[in-house]
Amino acid sequence: MRGQDAVREVAAELEQAGCPSPRVDAEWLVAHVLGGTRTDVYAGDRALDEPEVSRLRSLAARRRKREPLAYVLGEWGFRRLTLAVDPRVLIPRPETEILVERCLELLDGVQEPRVLDIGVGSGAIALAIVDERRDASVVATDSSPEALEVAAANRLRLGLDERVELRHGDLLAGAEGPFDLVVSNPPYIASEDVGRLQPEVLREPREALIGSGRHAEVAAAVMPALRSAGVLVLEVGDGQALEVAASLRELGYVEVGTTADLAGCERVVDGRKP
Ligand SMILES: C[S@@+](CC[C@H](N)C(=O)[O-])C[C@H]1O[C@@H](n2cnc3c(N)ncnc32)[C@H](O)[C@@H]1O
Repeated sequence: MRGQDAVREVAAELEQAGCPSPRVDAEWLVAHVLGGTRTDVYAGDRALDEPEVSRLRSLAARRRKREPLAYVLGEWGFRRLTLAVDPRVLIPRPETEILVERCLELLDGVQEPRVLDIGVGSGAIALAIVDERRDASVVATDSSPEALEVAAANRLRLGLDERVELRHGDLLAGAEGPFDLVVSNPPYIASEDVGRLQPEVLREPREALIGSGRHAEVAAAVMPALRSAGVLVLEVGDGQALEVAASLRELGYVEVGTTADLAGCERVVDGRKP
C-alpha cells in the first residue's frame, strides 16, 4: 500500500470514529510506521510492506478508540525535545512551551540558576530548561512514582542526568532552597468540569488534571525556598489568571504579572519574592 493511500484509508476510519483531526493524525501514524516525517509520506511516497501495514492497523485501531495520538506514537515534541510519553504522564501541551519561554526570560542574566519544578510529569519543563540554559540545574518533584519513572527515562535518553534531580513526594518533597526560580504547572481542572473533557483527555492521569486551589498552595509552600528576588512562575487554566495573581499578591509576592498564550488566553502568572 502506498503511503498516501494509507493516509486516506486511516483518515476515513478516524473520521468515522469521531477523532477531531483525522487527516493530520493519519499522517502522523503513517509517518511513524515509515520512520520519517509527515512531509516524507508525500515526498517519498514509499510503499508500506506487510509488517508495516499490520503495525499501522494496530496503531490506527488504538487511535479509533480515542487513545491520545501522543500515547499511540509513544512520544511527543516539546520545544526542542522529543519526550517519551505514556498513560503514566500528562501529555505536554503547547501552552506549557509559553511557560518555559517565560522562565527563560526571567532567568536571563542569572548565572548558573537553581530551579525547582513542582509536578514534573514527563519532565517537559525541567528538561527543556536545562536543554536551553546549559548552566542551569533543576530539582523536580512529583507525587506520582509512575510519572517519575517516565521523567527519569526521558532524562536518561536526553543525557541530562547530571543536571536534573528527581524527588518523589508532595510539593517540594524536602527539596532545599534557595532557588532562583520555581515553576509549576499544577493540576487545574475543576472536578465539575470533567464531564466536558474530550475522551482523549480522560485517558490522562487524574492526579495530573484535576485540582483546585493548587496554585495558592504551591505559592505559599515555596516562598521560604525562594531566594530574595527569586521568581515563581505558574501555568493557569482558562480564566484563572486574575484570581491566581491576586493570591500571589496576598501571599506577599511583588511584580506580579501575566503572559498570554498563542490563543490570547492569560496562561502564565509570575511574581517575585521581595
Ligand atoms: C498538569 S501535570 C504537569 C506535568 C508536566 N510538568 C507538564 O507540564 O507537562 C501535574 C503534575 O503534578 C503532579 N502532582 C499533583 N499533585 C502534586 C503534589 N501535591 N506534589 C507534587 N506533584 C504533584 C502530578 O502527578 C502531575 O505529574
